[in-house]
Amino acid sequence: MSGFNNEFTSEDPRCPGALPEGQNNPQKCEYGLYAEQLSGTAFTAMRHENRRTWLYRIRPSVIHTPFQKVDKGLLTHDWDAVEPNPNQLRWHPFDFPEKKQDFVQGLATVCGAGDPKSRNGIAIYVYLCNKPMEDKCLYNSDGDFLIVPQEGTLNITTEMGRMMVEPNEICVIQRGMRFSVDVKGNTRGYILEVFSDHFQLPTLGPIGANGLANPRDFLTPVAWYEDREVNEYTLVNKYHGHLFAATQGHSPFDVAAWHGNYVPYKYNLSNFMAVNSVTFDHADPSIFTVLTCPSLKPGVAIADFVIFPPRWSVQEKTFRPPYYHRNCMSEFMGLIYGKYEAKEEGFRPGGASLHSIMTPHGPDLECFEKASNASLKAEKIAEGTMSFMFESSLSMAVTPWANNTKVDPNYFKCWQPLRKYFNSNNKDAAKKK
Ligand SMILES: [Fe+2]
Repeated sequence: MSGFNNEFTSEDPRCPGALPEGQNNPQKCEYGLYAEQLSGTAFTAMRHENRRTWLYRIRPSVIHTPFQKVDKGLLTHDWDAVEPNPNQLRWHPFDFPEKKQDFVQGLATVCGAGDPKSRNGIAIYVYLCNKPMEDKCLYNSDGDFLIVPQEGTLNITTEMGRMMVEPNEICVIQRGMRFSVDVKGNTRGYILEVFSDHFQLPTLGPIGANGLANPRDFLTPVAWYEDREVNEYTLVNKYHGHLFAATQGHSPFDVAAWHGNYVPYKYNLSNFMAVNSVTFDHADPSIFTVLTCPSLKPGVAIADFVIFPPRWSVQEKTFRPPYYHRNCMSEFMGLIYGKYEAKEEGFRPGGASLHSIMTPHGPDLECFEKASNASLKAEKIAEGTMSFMFESSLSMAVTPWANNTKVDPNYFKCWQPLRKYFNSNNKDAAKKK
């Protein structure tokens, strides 16, 4: 595993020396803190994959009332509620909420597959919110969240510290970590949840030691605590695809120091070093993989997070936009800002598309005609644009909400006008348009 097996240490400067030296769990911690371990992998996971963090906190996290099931809104893992639908799907930008709702209340499942109980699967959400989580935090027992803000800044407080995550940045908050999201105004984005494993950097093979997303650009929070008594602080726990709530009388963000390698992180997508063909033809879109969550089969991902950043396009003798394609993987795409080259109309920021396993897709008429006849000079493409793909080896189903919300019924029409150029008597038929 590359990237995140570094051991980090962090101490809130208000408590110098809070980190024990030379051991993890002393008989008495400094400043009267409690020691608590958060395990992100099995105790016995291979050393290079082992993930855990030691937290030195004001109170252990076990002090809370029993969990009670609460309303989960549009969050669901029921993949059988809608008849299977293999069609190309495209969603117009998802609407901001009319009523006040926070990040947890604004989680809406779009599609997914699998099951957190057997720890194999994924869920894709959009979040639509407009108010902060007040004296309330969430932790996810089911998997890891990869969060892609599209509109509005997320000010996230975690047990390991605080992160400000803006559109064109992403963050990962792993299983079990308590976090609270503060937002101002209309806020929208996408989430990829994986139930099985953690995200990691893809291997680089012949690319070498540098390139794509470089490890040094992933930022982790620094320890920050608040010693705050609260009448009723609500802990929300996502467990088996449902939400449960418990209360406690204090802020859960009471960690004065921590060390370990199981920590949330953020990454600015503009730091991605794109690699592509400088002669002819296409590299497959996997060349743009930022993070991957591997399956047990080598080389096959449960899910990849792939971006299509601004870059130079220089290939000679080549149809440069994405090729026509049928895939043994599912492709969910979103647009953070700008215009996606293969479909300049219809696919808009805050919207999405889903091309399911073996469902054909590719450039629309306008893109095909334009790119087939364009002069192949070096040009900057996707300027002012950031689109992304969650690509999964799982066959995803959509939820009732996604099936009835903002679906573009005309999506299929963008390919219908593609013309036949074939002429068995004229090898140059396509060249004489
Ligand atoms: Fe594709």
